[in-house]
Amino acid sequence: MGDFVFGHTDMSFGAYAEYKCLSEDTSIALKPSNMTHLEAAVIPFGGVTAWHFIKKAAIKPGQKVLVVGASGAVGSAAVQLAKSLGAHVTGVSSTANMALVKSIGADKVIDYTKEDFTQNGETYDVIFDTVKSISVSRSLKSLTKKGIMILSAAGMPEMLQGAWVSRTSSKKVMTGVISHTASDITFLKGLMEAGKLKPVIDRTYSLDQIAEAHAYAEKGRKKGNVAIEV
Ligand SMILES: NC(=O)c1ccc[n+]([C@@H]2O[C@H](COP(=O)([O-])OP(=O)(O)OC[C@H]3O[C@@H](n4cnc5c(N)ncnc54)[C@H](OP(=O)(O)O)[C@@H]3O)[C@@H](O)[C@H]2O)c1
Repeated sequence: MGDFVFGHTDMSFGAYAEYKCLSEDTSIALKPSNMTHLEAAVIPFGGVTAWHFIKKAAIKPGQKVLVVGASGAVGSAAVQLAKSLGAHVTGVSSTANMALVKSIGADKVIDYTKEDFTQNGETYDVIFDTVKSISVSRSLKSLTKKGIMILSAAGMPEMLQGAWVSRTSSKKVMTGVISHTASDITFLKGLMEAGKLKPVIDRTYSLDQIAEAHAYAEKGRKKGNVAIEV
């Protein structure tokens, strides 16, 4: 038997197949020794997305980071990656997901059904919005003077607004399509083996239930990730 690997096939898709031919330089690494196949499989999507932006933002120990959508796939990875860099992390989630966000290491959790983070007088060095729930101009007020806003779910209007803000103010807005390599997956593997990056699996479906799995994921309410067992 060959090595067990995990990774992200990105726009080449095909990850539901039992066999897939990949080039040597694809974003794959050896499966973390302390994870099951299912646990390893759900990490790359949210993991490389969050890491792409967090790496660019160069988060430093002690910085205040706010993650909006902290209970999602990208959000749960962002909380843990920012924590692993020594940041003070606040997650924004619904009441039902507060315990989950706390359990993955957030120092503080704001319940968006009861509190609007743009109105609480706090400012953050980095705001990582994974769900595009609040307008850019409103959340910019909660950024420190040289703060960085990450909009992983940005559409064209936010991208244009973000580019304008970055050009005309001391604040920076990051948007765009992520990129990743095998070294990013290897980095995530290291964190997983060190217990600093844990998979969050909401539901597991069989391959026969794939349509159901997609329908559930597309609702935008999943807690972490949906896994497919082949
Ligand atoms: N830029 C890129 O290249 C790139 C790459 C990958 C992904 N993305 C994008 O990143 C986004 C996030 O993907 P994902 O899979 O992480 O999403 P997801 O898992 O579907 O996120 C859903 C989570 O967000 C929470 N949520 C919904 N509304 C919220 C609100 N108003 N405030 C706080 N939390 C809220 C939900 O919890 P509740 O139900 O409790 O609210 C749920 O747990 C997607 O739009 C995706 O397209 C971009």
